[in-house]
Amino acid sequence: MNYRHAFHAGNFADVHKHWILMLLLERLSAKDKPFFVLDSHAGAGFYDLTRDESSRTGEAADGIAHLFAAETRLPDSFAPYLEAVRRLNPGMDDPNDLRWYPGSPWLIADALRQDDRLSAVEAHPEQARLLKESLAEFRNARVYERDGYEAIPSMLPPKEKRGLTLIDPPYENSDEVSRTAKAVSDGMKRFATGTMAIWYPIKTHDVGDALVESLPVPDRGGLRCEIFVTAPDSDAVGLTGSGMILLNPIWPIEDRLREGLPLLCETLARDGGAGWRLEAL
Ligand SMILES: C[S@@+](CC[C@H](N)C(=O)[O-])C[C@H]1O[C@@H](n2cnc3c(N)ncnc32)[C@H](O)[C@@H]1O
Repeated sequence: MNYRHAFHAGNFADVHKHWILMLLLERLSAKDKPFFVLDSHAGAGFYDLTRDESSRTGEAADGIAHLFAAETRLPDSFAPYLEAVRRLNPGMDDPNDLRWYPGSPWLIADALRQDDRLSAVEAHPEQARLLKESLAEFRNARVYERDGYEAIPSMLPPKEKRGLTLIDPPYENSDEVSRTAKAVSDGMKRFATGTMAIWYPIKTHDVGDALVESLPVPDRGGLRCEIFVTAPDSDAVGLTGSGMILLNPIWPIEDRLREGLPLLCETLARDGGAGWRLEAL
């Protein structure tokens, strides 16, 4: 387990993933009934972009900074995400002065209502320690230091019978696609109506294709939602794109994604090879 999200916090892939996450949370909050969120690979909670790991790569400059620069041209669906980032940076006048970037568990905890719950799972001891500190102020968020793949079936179904599982592995080991697929299948058997959001990296289409082949598609269907900041290329040094599979997506998220993806892609594009895809599974 060498992956440290601090090197990538606020990059274009975080923007794509966290925008979709906030759309899902907004849809879950639209009903009065409480919901549960399981974040199986949660990371440290939030990140200081001025620290060495983040400032050395400078990835947020091509991600969240571009989104703030384009804010007035973006559809309303981006507002909850940008407002949450602002809440973590009180007094920020200029988005270029952005210091703190929220990870998925902070965004989720910040969006919970009184009776909603978050279980945030992180296997790396130091990341789990930081996560406990990051979420200490949220009374309905709990941190578990354990394996996220095993946590999925064991923590589902939730007593609320409504909810979301976010699965955001580092994909640093060759078995992570099969572990993800097994965890999702086992989790869906226990909680067939829950929504699942599975992030994957794009350099080429291999990981996305392998996931689509191995994941179960529930009755309410699924979506494959991707952006490419440049053309997929197996020789690329870093990621060329970011993908998310949604199982049991919550209506009308497909419309919001279709409206937002062209502008998101235009905002984050590195060159003419940029593009996006939204497909039903
Ligand atoms: C991509 S990062 C998570 C980023 C976070 N979801 C966000 O959006 O802010 C992946 C995290 O998974 C953790 N991790 C790696 N293997 C794990 C496992 N088997 N179970 C749980 N966490 C794991 C890593 O330590 C890392 O913090």
